[in-house]
Amino acid sequence: MCQCNTIVSAMSYLAFRRFRFTHRSQSSAILHARRRFIGIVVPRSSTPCGAIAARVAGVLLSIVAVTNTAGAQVPNPGRREPSSAELAQLGRLMFFDPSLSASGKLACGTCHDPRYAYGPPPGKGIARGGATMALSGTRAVPSLRYLHRFPQFKEQYRFVDGDVGPVGGLTWDGRVGSLHEQAEIPLLAANEMANAGSEEVAARLGKAAYAAQFRAAFGDDIFKDAQQAYAAGLRALEAFQQVPEEFFPYSSRYDAFLRGSLELTPQEERGVQLFKDPAKGNCASCHLGVSRAGAPPPFTDFDFVNVGVPRNPRLAANGDPGYYDLGLCGPLRQDFIGRREYCGFFRSPTMRNVATRTVYFHNGVFTSLRDVLHFYNERDLHPEKFYSRNTDGSVHKFDDLPPAYPDNVDHDPPLDRKPGDDPALSEEEIDDIIVFLKALTDGYAGP
Ligand code: HEC
Ligand code: HEC
Repeated sequence: MCQCNTIVSAMSYLAFRRFRFTHRSQSSAILHARRRFIGIVVPRSSTPCGAIAARVAGVLLSIVAVTNTAGAQVPNPGRREPSSAELAQLGRLMFFDPSLSASGKLACGTCHDPRYAYGPPPGKGIARGGATMALSGTRAVPSLRYLHRFPQFKEQYRFVDGDVGPVGGLTWDGRVGSLHEQAEIPLLAANEMANAGSEEVAARLGKAAYAAQFRAAFGDDIFKDAQQAYAAGLRALEAFQQVPEEFFPYSSRYDAFLRGSLELTPQEERGVQLFKDPAKGNCASCHLGVSRAGAPPPFTDFDFVNVGVPRNPRLAANGDPGYYDLGLCGPLRQDFIGRREYCGFFRSPTMRNVATRTVYFHNGVFTSLRDVLHFYNERDLHPEKFYSRNTDGSVHKFDDLPPAYPDNVDHDPPLDRKPGDDPALSEEEIDDIIVFLKALTDGYAGP
């Protein structure tokens, strides 16, 4: 049986989710010294309490979303409100419907493919879109799994170790506060689904194969008011993205291990220790491996760090040498433009399902986990392996930051090495960490 405290934890997690942080301005530069690793504290139990708690939280969250999605509310006088199950079912149909795009070829599910944990299929990590599918994206398509744990963006969040810095929000730069607001970006972006505005989305919905289901759920008049139809569509997409089995199944080998139903292999065991060890991978200091509020570890703390990711020459936008994607300080995010202390900061992604990805980091510069591990291990020992060259042949370290910005780059282990030092990890240890990361892929069917 699941303990009461798990339910209570799920409830308190919800309370946390519903709390709106106040926004305070910050004048001092960020001192973003990394926090110490706080060990994995999930007790191994013989019952799937964590998963149950997560599901309870998820179900409750869906209810919260239905009742609390300000801006996406549809007044529906005299008519019935759709249930969350109905909403989610409509959202599922929309999510996989390419007729909602100007090209007729692009659905949410084209870029966020359920076979790859709602991340990009191979070869589509930087996606193309637009009315004729000729425009390239500027960022790697993220997985949509485990976003239910994201906190609202806060500029000065006090982490458990007392460290203060920005946290949370959706997208690589945290500029979006909810799933229904987020859905507007791809629906309307010229290089994605390329609708001219909310009316065009509503018109496409009115012609969709499931338009009758929309009428049944929201009332016969729903398409008479484009804004109501649009808002209803956003709510449906949000509800679908909160379906636990699809978006937070907690079904990896590692989850099975936490529930006590399997032993890790010795190599997986070594991998998780190296992932946690502050003197080795130190990965968990950002990709948090600790259970929170009764739910299994999210493998991210949603904080923002500049790890000095190299420029990706394959990105079309980078053909312009003056173009820089600086994350928190713009250009996509607008409220911190000019705040140099935030430039190059991107939100730490979850490590769950990371082995299903074929592009890594916000700009998709790396195409294998091994390359990512080598980068963490050798960024400061052999920068020539990762960065481009200046015209005089010298290495252009941190080449995706404009000149005079690199003082923001993180130097916590394993990114704390000086030339001549030993790397934090051996090749065998890198293998072990990769094997552990593969144990975070959902869909483990059990023995
Ligand atoms: C052309 C490919 C493409 C399509 C189509 C697309 N997305 Fe995305 N999605 C992306 C990219 C790229 C990002 C990262 C955006 C950023 O960081 O600014 C993203 C980010 C997101 C996020 C935030 C994830 C996070 O980690 O915070 C959500 C949620 C999301 N998309 C949902 C949707 C929904 C819903 C649809 C359909 C209405 C959709 N996407 C259609 C490419 C796509
Ligand atoms: C100081 C904080 C920090 C540490 C330590 C850290 N990471 Fe990261 N990690 C990040 C951030 C931030 C990003 C996103 C950076 C970006 O895209 O600009 C990231 C991205 C990644 C990605 C790409 C995931 C994706 O979806 O594209 C992988 C894989 C990864 N880290 C693995 C690791 C491993 C393994 C370790 C330990 C060897 C580690 N990280 C240590 C902060 C950290």
